[in-house]
Amino acid sequence: MIYGAPVTETPVRPADPETIASAGVILREGGLVAMPTETVYGLAADGLNPAAVARIFAAKGRPADNPLILHLSEAGELEGIVERPPQLAFELAAAFWPGPLTLVLRRRDVVPAIVSAGLATVAVRVPAHPVARAIIRACGRPLAAPSANRSGRPSPTLAAHVAADLDGRIAMIVDGGPTEHGIESTVLDLSELGPRGGSGASGEKGGDAPLLLRQGAITREALAAKIGAVRDAHGEALARSPGLRHRHYAPRAKVELVEPAMLQRRSRELAGDGLRLGVIDGGPGQGEDPQLSGVSWLRLGSTSQEYARSLFAALRTLDELSVERILAVTVPELGIGRALMDRLRRAALG
Ligand code: TXA
Ligand code: MG
Repeated sequence: MIYGAPVTETPVRPADPETIASAGVILREGGLVAMPTETVYGLAADGLNPAAVARIFAAKGRPADNPLILHLSEAGELEGIVERPPQLAFELAAAFWPGPLTLVLRRRDVVPAIVSAGLATVAVRVPAHPVARAIIRACGRPLAAPSANRSGRPSPTLAAHVAADLDGRIAMIVDGGPTEHGIESTVLDLSELGPRGGSGASGEKGGDAPLLLRQGAITREALAAKIGAVRDAHGEALARSPGLRHRHYAPRAKVELVEPAMLQRRSRELAGDGLRLGVIDGGPGQGEDPQLSGVSWLRLGSTSQEYARSLFAALRTLDELSVERILAVTVPELGIGRALMDRLRRAALG
């Protein structure tokens, strides 16, 4: 053992068949396993076992009023979990599953109330990551899985991020390498639609269009192209996604958002004030300023997609470097840029 190295208690295992089989056993016995998905790492428990689900809340320090997503291995399992899904749910499932779209539907009684924090609804998705689906199949149950970070920390996009937050608190971490999207699934509420759902269902109670509760890896544009109208959640509607009320993605340093055109001026100002500065420069950005030294300048690629993939890791890196201020470049609110700006704003709220 290397003197001074952190004691690691939770094994981090490569995602091979043996690991997947033992993850299945741990989950069946009510234990917690962190697994890769195509969005971020998830902290999984048997979603039909209330004691196992309670362990998720304890390990993360998650507020009890913040509901979890159930992960299914295929869309065919949907009807066992939710009550009378509208036709639109099947259309969306056919178009986007497996993949990073979460649907909020009416919960059946087989789903323990703790999964959805007592709400009458439950959030479900079929992840696209082959390791996640193999682990769900190995357990043989739907898996409740929030992002595998301590509550209030950035979502984990590497197994090492999970270990940093949850070592010693969970039974196993399955390492599937870096996650593809780096930003969480899009959450769409269909729970108040009539049997048909969608724009054709007007006249039924709440039957106009589904409600977009969280911007995520499936873009609003892709949803609208498939199903027409999507309503954005404002004010009261946001209360329906309790996770959005809580503190989120907060690095230790204060985060300031800056338009690309203002980045040079603002970074020189702050560095001139003698602040230990970190810059998150992605999308159009501008690249490192040769006049600045001693600034932790992270260039996260040239597209919003690349920026989104690396944002959470960058926030963690800058925390480790103990910078005092983070300047993060904004991107246009189009496509994945909407979800990215949503996460940047939350980080800036602190
Ligand atoms: O990509 C993802 O969605 C990742 C991976 C692991 O699947 N999971 C994830 O879970 O981000 P979590 O718990 O960090 O975020 C779930 C979000 C929260 O904002 C929560 O409030 C919302 O979904 N949610 C869950 N169940 C809900 C429900 N019944 N009604 C409304 N919102 C719900
Ligand atoms: Mg989360």
